[in-house]
Amino acid sequence: MNIAIVGTGYVGLVTGACFAEVGHNVICVDCDEAKVKLLQGGGIPIFEPGLEEMVKKNVAEGRLIFTASTAEGVEKSDVVFIAVPTPPLGDGSVDLSFIERVARDIADATTTYKVVVDKSTVPVKTGEKVAETIKRYCKVDCDFDVVSNPEFLREGFAVEDLMNPDRIVVGTRSDKPVAAMREIYEPFNAPIIFTDINSAELIKHAANSFLAMKISYINAVAAICEATGANVEEVATGIGMDERIGRRFLNASLGFGGSCFPKDLSAFIRISDDLGYDFGLLKKVQEINAAQMDRFLKKITDTLWILKDKTIGVLGLAFKQNTDDVRMSPAIEVCQRLLKGGATLRVHDPKAMEKARELLPTEGVTYVDDMDSVAEGCDAIVVATEWPQFKELDLAKAREAMTSPILFDGRNLFDPAEMDQLGFTYKSIGR
Ligand code: UGA
Repeated sequence: MNIAIVGTGYVGLVTGACFAEVGHNVICVDCDEAKVKLLQGGGIPIFEPGLEEMVKKNVAEGRLIFTASTAEGVEKSDVVFIAVPTPPLGDGSVDLSFIERVARDIADATTTYKVVVDKSTVPVKTGEKVAETIKRYCKVDCDFDVVSNPEFLREGFAVEDLMNPDRIVVGTRSDKPVAAMREIYEPFNAPIIFTDINSAELIKHAANSFLAMKISYINAVAAICEATGANVEEVATGIGMDERIGRRFLNASLGFGGSCFPKDLSAFIRISDDLGYDFGLLKKVQEINAAQMDRFLKKITDTLWILKDKTIGVLGLAFKQNTDDVRMSPAIEVCQRLLKGGATLRVHDPKAMEKARELLPTEGVTYVDDMDSVAEGCDAIVVATEWPQFKELDLAKAREAMTSPILFDGRNLFDPAEMDQLGFTYKSIGR
């Protein structure tokens, strides 16, 4: 199958690489010429485990190419995927102007039948608008179908998730694009669910909102655990073994972040409001998430009392493990709020330090390359991202290097009893 993918962000680039990996011919399009040059020269703009090797291999084998021209992508393909950003606007709605731009570019270049697949996360009914737009701007009487095919990959596990999907969702208005969609996804050996376009679009927002709800739920339970001396991990295991609930996404934390959950929750609430339904449940999910960050920072200030002139080590800047993405990262918010209180920071992240520099002020932050050196002269350490390697921190060495051995664990990486034995004042979430 000849496939074009417009947009080479997390979703577009990984999808393109994985489609090429299973044998399709893929042309990845991006309007950012510098990015296209970087990709053409073998560079990868994001960190995602396994991606670089996969891109290089498929470029070398001639199945994956890059261009800045949407027209070239459309001409060379039967199926065109839209994978451009849909960033949040201030009022909770999303900016769909990139989607519209691509729909117009596709309309300009289309001369033969195309399947146009929306993979970006969009509000319900966007597919209808994309179809209208292509029809409006097509110069010839062009034949096309619009399909909604939401993506469920997690950053940091994007290649793994894309190569082994739980399910593929395809929303379509007619049967005509079904064969092409089956052919594209056949090598992935996953169940394909065919729906109407609106349902497919809703599946994405409903899925992300549900997962965010699971996290806020366990974070609320964590607050009760803290008030009663119960252990949230034991509670999560106990409820998670019920197959109807499941253990995944029940890890209590300082709150969820990233470029998806916060944005998708706001969007789904806004969409519902616009449709006349007050989705109070999801508003509460947002509130619990914001309160969870406040509660975590209160633990720090209750213990340290005064932040001014304190040195605090922060382990983790990315919004989660395995990524260099710092967008809406809870770790960045922790840093900003500690800095605002007058603390100076010694920060470390295995992958996200470069991107964090763009968000954090230059003054008051020291970037430390080696995680075991973060503790030097610190009044406390904060664990803000669930990188598994933080578990290997030399805690005895850290305790010696610190002014006072205090550790705030926003990801429950360490064992409270062991921390106690090592002589740390240790505060985690819900334990
Ligand atoms: C999320 C969804 O999990 C994907 O299925 C979806 O495709 C993606 O959004 C998207 O819409 O593109 P992602 O944002 O990459 O993926 O990351 P997650 O693994 O879902 O984590 C989101 C946040 O929740 C992170 O800050 C993470 O640390 C936090 N989290 C996750 C918890 O605090 N507790 C948990 O148990 C799980």
